[in-house]
Amino acid sequence: MKVTIFGCGYVGLVTGACFAEVGNEVLCVDVDAARVERLNAGEVPIFEPGLEDLVHRNTAAGRLAFTTDPAEAVAHGLFQMIAVGTPPDEDGSADLRHVLDVARTIGAHMDGYRVVVDKSTVPVGTADRVREAVAAELHRRGVQVEFDVVCNPEFLKEGEAVEDFMKPERIVVGADNPRTVELLKLLYAPFNRNHERMVIMDVRSAELTKYAANAMLATKISFMNEMANLAERLGADIEKVRVGIGSDSRIGYAFIYPGCGYGGSCFPKDVKALERMAAAAGYEARLLAAVEDVNRRQKEVLLRKMEAHYGDRLPGRTLALWGLSFKPGTDDIREAPSCVLIEGLLARGARVRAYDPKAMEAVRRRFGDRDGLELVPSPYEALEGADGLALVTEWKEFRSPDFDRIRELLGEPVIFDGRNVYDPDLLAAKGFAYYGIGRGRSVHRPAGAAA
Ligand code: UDX
Repeated sequence: MKVTIFGCGYVGLVTGACFAEVGNEVLCVDVDAARVERLNAGEVPIFEPGLEDLVHRNTAAGRLAFTTDPAEAVAHGLFQMIAVGTPPDEDGSADLRHVLDVARTIGAHMDGYRVVVDKSTVPVGTADRVREAVAAELHRRGVQVEFDVVCNPEFLKEGEAVEDFMKPERIVVGADNPRTVELLKLLYAPFNRNHERMVIMDVRSAELTKYAANAMLATKISFMNEMANLAERLGADIEKVRVGIGSDSRIGYAFIYPGCGYGGSCFPKDVKALERMAAAAGYEARLLAAVEDVNRRQKEVLLRKMEAHYGDRLPGRTLALWGLSFKPGTDDIREAPSCVLIEGLLARGARVRAYDPKAMEAVRRRFGDRDGLELVPSPYEALEGADGLALVTEWKEFRSPDFDRIRELLGEPVIFDGRNVYDPDLLAAKGFAYYGIGRGRSVHRPAGAAA
């Protein structure tokens, strides 16, 4: 089948490459000429495991191509997928400018039946606005052709996006017209094997499903972070509590890991956008506001622990940071807790030596040559001249470090573990002061550790 994808960003590229991989002819279009040029030269602008191989293989096979030409793009695909960004505007609502630009482009060039597919995370009601925008352009041109608008949200996790696309847990399709459901079934047939994964519903429900899924996951995390903060004050260990509640199949083990806050391109943006959507509909979404508020504070939790540990010695201290991306497996630092920590430390006159396996370039772009921030090429170099180590993102390579070497390199043996990766008993035995997230006894410094 022929598929056009508007937007060569994260979602667009993964979607395009995966549809091509199963034999479709895919044309990806972007307004960013430099990006399209790089893609045509075989350069994949984002880091996502498996994606580069897919792009190379499918462009070589002639199933995947990139263009900036909107006329060619609209002429190409029966499916016109919209996978452009919906950044938050000033009040946190999703900004639909790019989505509606694409809708107008489709209307401006369309001369036969098309299925317009919203892949971007868009507020409830967007499909109606897309339909109006396409229709207005057709009307302006005096052209009469049919089209349908479908909502088909993605649930891709960064770092596992290709795998998630190839083996989806569910394929949500919101359509108000049965003929489009049949077409979408055909398109998704290669991914819908062994058992039925398609969940068909009306457009508005599909639009809300995406937000509800992300808001639920964010709620689980903020809930656990609140429990962690409570555990700390009550002298309980949240890691024990986590296992205790996760074993209840109604709760489950997934997504209940406490830490120094969630980040990324989806949760923060979608929780805020859903809250705005609720407000616009005359409903005060108190739980969503609390989820967001708990997370905002949680991103400062390591800073608070450092303030408590160093007291008025914090200005002038140097902290080593391990892990800067918002989660392991990506170079993405959007809404990352690391950025809040870096800003907070610099603002308090502390210095930072930071290392990340993938996100150094992104941090360099974001902070420039900021005084007091040094990006170093290896984890142990970050420790040189540092007065403490903070683990912010739990990349695998940080899981089992050489603690003796860490102690020798650090001016003061203290570890702030933002992801509860290390064993507090082991670290205490090795003479470290250890601060985890919500691990009651860990807030008590072991005897003999520096005050
Ligand atoms: C998320 C959704 O999982 C995905 O379905 C949606 O399409 C896009 O948003 P992603 O942003 O890639 O995907 O990251 P995810 O792996 O879900 O993690 C989000 C954040 O939550 C990370 O900062 C992570 O560190 C944090 N997290 C996750 C926790 O703090 N605790 C947990 O138990 C799980």
